Amino acid sequence: MPTPPQPDGSVDLSFVEGVAREIAVHIKEEYRIVVDKSTVPVKTGEKVAQTINRYNPKADIDVVSNPEFLREGSAVEDLMKPDRIVVGVSSDRAIGPMKEVYEPFNAPIMITDLNSAELIKHASNSFLALKISYINAVGAICEKSGANVERVAEGMGADKRIGRAFLNAGIGYGGSCFPKDLSAFIRISEELGYDFRLLKEVEAINQDQKERFLKKIREVLWVLRHKKIGVLGLAFKGNTDDVRSSVAIGIVQQLLAEGAEVRAYDPKGMEKARALVPGAKMVERAEDVADGADALLLLTEWTDFKSLPWAAMKKSMLSPLLFDGRNLLNPDEMRGFGFAYTSVGR
Ligand SMILES: NC(=O)c1ccc[n+]([C@@H]2O[C@H](COP(=O)([O-])OP(=O)(O)OC[C@H]3O[C@@H](n4cnc5c(N)ncnc54)[C@H](O)[C@@H]3O)[C@@H](O)[C@H]2O)c1
Repeated sequence: MPTPPQPDGSVDLSFVEGVAREIAVHIKEEYRIVVDKSTVPVKTGEKVAQTINRYNPKADIDVVSNPEFLREGSAVEDLMKPDRIVVGVSSDRAIGPMKEVYEPFNAPIMITDLNSAELIKHASNSFLALKISYINAVGAICEKSGANVERVAEGMGADKRIGRAFLNAGIGYGGSCFPKDLSAFIRISEELGYDFRLLKEVEAINQDQKERFLKKIREVLWVLRHKKIGVLGLAFKGNTDDVRSSVAIGIVQQLLAEGAEVRAYDPKGMEKARALVPGAKMVERAEDVADGADALLLLTEWTDFKSLPWAAMKKSMLSPLLFDGRNLLNPDEMRGFGFAYTSVGR
């Protein structure tokens, strides 16, 4: 079930509630397990059970929380080889059948109580977002001190307690999960009487990253009006066509609002992006964004972008400015092609 955010950041649970009522109407009298895989606020499972029992007092059910951890872009692999399978139950009766379902996957199954399972999902996604904002803040210090955020991340990541994953500096996180799950977790905490200031700061730093990147562009180009800007990448990350809450889209919208002429390319995201940035011209081939451009921006970490015909692209530009918002390219190599190359935190 979708659990979309509401304007105030809280979760719209009407789809989940609606299906709980539908289940209540259609459920047979023998024992059934109702499994929730959606990302929901803690205590939702309890509410689902109460709802089903209210509309059908005869229903013999257990609600199980089994949060989904797969990532877009590697969904099948994540499904087949999960790090862990979390099963939150309110009664031991549900454990056996759930274990049986997941046995073939050969992955560790963690049995918890219902509320803990629901919290594991929000706490995990918020922690990953925290890692990203942390390295972005460190990146800001690197820029001011002349250090290299990539070396710093490698050094930190070599410590097993920290790990290298999710320590990539850039223009910040986006997508349909992190921003939504973070604001939901902040709201849930608030409702439970805890002010999760740490996560509010994670959000603020993420917002700053986009602004700091735009500022770098304005500092060089001075006036954006009528500037031709080539954009590589619109999806919120590589290997997906998903442009929901994509930072790249936010940046293009801002450039358009300031009067720039944007030409954009994304291997998979252009179709869905059209409606969000109707003012941008989508081109067929990545290299076409460079034609007559005043600057190039790389906004999504598609591996294909590493091997573009950079030398020819540089030649076709009006001025050789290249802003790499994902630290995807090799600075020395790009400068070798003659680009004035800027990235994040290095
Ligand atoms: N997409 C991801 O990568 C991902 C990863 C982990 C967790 N999640 C979580 O999983 C949940 C679903 O995400 P999604 O991206 O698959 O969303 P989605 O909107 O793509 O899919 C939701 C599905 O629910 C169906 N649906 C909606 N209303 C219904 C109703 N009344 N009755 C029956 N079916 C109904 C829709 O048709 C759709 O198939 C969310 O809570 C999300 O946070 C998503």
